[in-house]
Amino acid sequence: MAGHRRRRGWLAWIGVLVFLRLADLSFVALSPGRRAVSAVLPGPGGAGVRHTTRLRARGDVAAAYELPPLPFDYDALEPIIDKETMKFHHDNHHNTYIQNINKALDGQERPALVELQKAAIQSGTAIRNSGGGAYNHNFYWLGLAPVGRGGEPSDKLAAAIKEAFGSFDEFKAKFEAAGAPGARFGSGWVWLVVKADGQLAITSTPNQDNPLMDGVEGTPGIPILVCDLWEHAYYLKYQYRRPEYVKAFWSVVNWNQVNAWYDDAVMGKAPMAEASVSASA
Ligand SMILES: [Fe+2]
Repeated sequence: MAGHRRRRGWLAWIGVLVFLRLADLSFVALSPGRRAVSAVLPGPGGAGVRHTTRLRARGDVAAAYELPPLPFDYDALEPIIDKETMKFHHDNHHNTYIQNINKALDGQERPALVELQKAAIQSGTAIRNSGGGAYNHNFYWLGLAPVGRGGEPSDKLAAAIKEAFGSFDEFKAKFEAAGAPGARFGSGWVWLVVKADGQLAITSTPNQDNPLMDGVEGTPGIPILVCDLWEHAYYLKYQYRRPEYVKAFWSVVNWNQVNAWYDDAVMGKAPMAEASVSASA
């Protein structure tokens, strides 16, 4: 009986040794299970940019980014934004940015998307375009609501808009002008931001840039409202008439969300833009 137990003990030890050999558990020596690594990512003009990140121990690498579901049905923004556009925009365009940022950070830590934005331009085109595209689209969906479901600007936000732009109508006119093809040629975004001094400003960014990125064109700040100016956002319904789309956009703004983002922004907090929330909240 004792011999049998000894044999079982030896077999267990052999099993453990084989497992350690196969599993390459060298990371267990790292404390607290993380280590700094750096990689050279593609930079502007083909130059490499060193990007340092913290790798988690194997088995604890952050989960891949996921395409968040729309906070409403595909046809919920009709007739302002058509179902077909919403489907292609979310399922194809947005999803491509999510997949590409996952590829760009394969094997590395994947922090909250908002944390990628500040250094995105210096980190190179993969982080800038795919990380920007993933964040911007998350943000865009959350800032939309079906007609009549988005609420109104809070008293606090309305007062700040009046102070910065003269009136709400003036604000809308300036936002629409900044989003017109003559002001933002090609693809991009038009934003309402809270600047470092707490004041509101309208700005636009090219491609998938956003106002959180260091070195971005236009006015940097914490974004609280955005309209996607890429043709894929409106072309099926509005074709070349982008100004008509931006004007119609006001009917589907989720002011409830914008108000909450404004409250955070004046405290210096940028939207995470990752959670899916009810448009009627
Ligand atoms: Fe888009």
